[in-house]
Amino acid sequence: MSGKNAFVIGYPIKHSRSPLIHNYWLKEYNLTGSYTKLEIAPGDLKTFLSNMESSIYCGGNVTIPHKEKTFEICVRTTETARKIGAVNTIWLEDSQLCGDNTDVGGFLANLDEEAPGWDAPCEKAAVIGAGGAARAILVGLASRGVRHVKILNRTADRMRALADEARVWGFQSVTTHLLAEPRAFSGEALLVNATSLGMVGQPALSVDLDGLSKNAVVSDIVYAPLETALLREAARRGHRTSSGLGMLLHQAAPGFERWFGVRPKVTPALRDLIVDDLRQARP
Ligand SMILES: NC(=O)c1ccc[n+]([C@@H]2O[C@H](COP(=O)([O-])OP(=O)(O)OC[C@H]3O[C@@H](n4cnc5c(N)ncnc54)[C@H](OP(=O)(O)O)[C@@H]3O)[C@@H](O)[C@H]2O)c1
Repeated sequence: MSGKNAFVIGYPIKHSRSPLIHNYWLKEYNLTGSYTKLEIAPGDLKTFLSNMESSIYCGGNVTIPHKEKTFEICVRTTETARKIGAVNTIWLEDSQLCGDNTDVGGFLANLDEEAPGWDAPCEKAAVIGAGGAARAILVGLASRGVRHVKILNRTADRMRALADEARVWGFQSVTTHLLAEPRAFSGEALLVNATSLGMVGQPALSVDLDGLSKNAVVSDIVYAPLETALLREAARRGHRTSSGLGMLLHQAAPGFERWFGVRPKVTPALRDLIVDDLRQARP
C-alpha cells in the first residue's frame, strides 16, 4: 500500500472504533495510506514492536492490555506518558520507538469544547476510578490548576496508591473516598466518571450527586451508551455535562498528525459517523 500505514494493536481488538476515525480522516484529507486493527496477543507484543522498523507501519495506537508494557519497551517517551506510565500512541524516530499518552490532551480538549470555562478556576474536583484512565485525567486536572481533588474507587488499595502518586502532581490536597460510602461530595465544581461503570454490559454507577456545587460540570468518559445514566441524572439536575465520545475523538488527533502529517479536525460529521456505529452495535 502506498503512503503511510498505521495500526491499532490490542487484545482483543474487534470492538475498536479507531479505524473508523482514522480512515475517515484519511479520506477527508485526501491522503493515501491505511489504518488497520491488529490483534496482538500479549506474548507477541515485544516481537511485533521490535519488527516495526522493517514492517510497513510507521506507528499506531496501543490499547488494552498493551499500554503499560509498550511504555516499558519505548526508548523515548513524553513527560505525560512517563507520569502515567502508559502509552497509547507510538511512532518511530531515528529508528527508535517513541511513545506518548494522548488521553490527557483528549480529555481536556473535549472538556474545553463541551464545558468551556470549567477551569476558571476549578477549586475542587472529584474523579471516580483509580485505573489508567483516572490516572490520565488526574494528570490533566493537575496541569490545569485544579487545587483539591477527591478520588473515589471501589478498591481501597488501588485508590490510595494513586492518591499517593497524585500528591506530587501539584494538587494542594488529594483525598480518597470509598465508592460504596454515602455522602461523597462537598462543593466539587467537576465530577468525572473514569470507571467502566455505566458502560453497556457493566453495572450502573450509583452515586448521589447531592453535595456537588450548583454549577458543577459532570463528565463521563464512558461512550457506549452515548448518554450514561450519570449524565442523564446530572442534566436533570441542571448540571452541564460532557460525554466520553469527544475524548475518544480528540485523543486520536495527535497520532494521526504524527503518522500522516496533517492535524485533523474533530467535526460534527465525524461525530455522527461514530454515533451511528455505536447505535448499530449490539451489547
Ligand atoms: N472516552 C475515552 O476516550 C476513554 C479513554 C480511556 C478509557 N475509557 C474508558 O474508561 C474506562 C476505564 O478504563 P481504564 O483504562 O482506566 O480501566 P482500568 O485501568 O481497568 O480501571 C477500571 C476502573 O473501573 C473500576 N471498576 C471496574 N469495574 C467495576 C465495578 N464492577 N464496580 C466498581 N468499580 C469498577 C475499577 O475499580 P477497582 O480499582 O476497584 O477495580 C477501576 O477504577 C473504560 O470503560 C474505558 O473504555 C474511555
